[in-house]
Amino acid sequence: MFPVMPYPYYSKIDPDDVMSIIAYVRSLDPVENNVPESVSDFPMSVIINTIPKKAPGGTRPDESNTLAYGAYLVNACACIECHTQVNKGQIIPELAFSGGREFPLPTGGIVRSANITSSTTTGIGNWTEDAFVNRFKSYVDSNYKPQTIEKGAFNSYMPWTMYGGMKRSDLAAIYAYLHSLPGKENNVVKFTPPGADIAKK
Ligand code: HEC
Repeated sequence: MFPVMPYPYYSKIDPDDVMSIIAYVRSLDPVENNVPESVSDFPMSVIINTIPKKAPGGTRPDESNTLAYGAYLVNACACIECHTQVNKGQIIPELAFSGGREFPLPTGGIVRSANITSSTTTGIGNWTEDAFVNRFKSYVDSNYKPQTIEKGAFNSYMPWTMYGGMKRSDLAAIYAYLHSLPGKENNVVKFTPPGADIAKK
């Protein structure tokens, strides 16, 4: 499988968890949609066959081992992929979790991922565990209403509602793990509206 799908992270998931995912996907209603086979041009057509590696698999740590369990969840959620700047599509390891990866929005403008390292000035080092957990949970509580995004307006891009379904203790473990990593300075400008974008170039 070609890593457009973030499978290098998923390949470290515990085989037991992978089985659960398969069982869940099989429980969904079938949808007829004949997706054409993907075709790649030379040289990608050759390179593509050299990329796949055997999945290493992983072991889900016990929930009581908060940091290891948090690290397991952060990997399984592929947080690093969006929250790290890239060079030719590959994340830059030294900048891990410090944000600033750009996502052009279909409604115009560019949103950039946040610095989620423990930096107290430009990251989330000052956030309490409660603030962190509640931020995710606010997208799944009964008061939450999805908004219509006007053309050129800010849109998060962060899959808040998907992660919001996690247990509070899972989100707390993610928080603990992120806080255990060194803080990195990177002051991210979260959103550049369409007009400003063109003016800059
Ligand atoms: C699909 C890309 C994507 C993924 C995957 C993703 N994020 Fe984000 N995240 C973003 C973007 C873009 C923003 C900035 C927009 C916003 O604040 O809503 C953001 C914002 C955040 C913020 C808000 C920080 C602030 O200063 O307000 C936190 C916290 C966060 N992400 C944590 C996480 C964690 C933890 C994970 C993994 C469980 C994760 N993200 C996975 C794209 C992503």
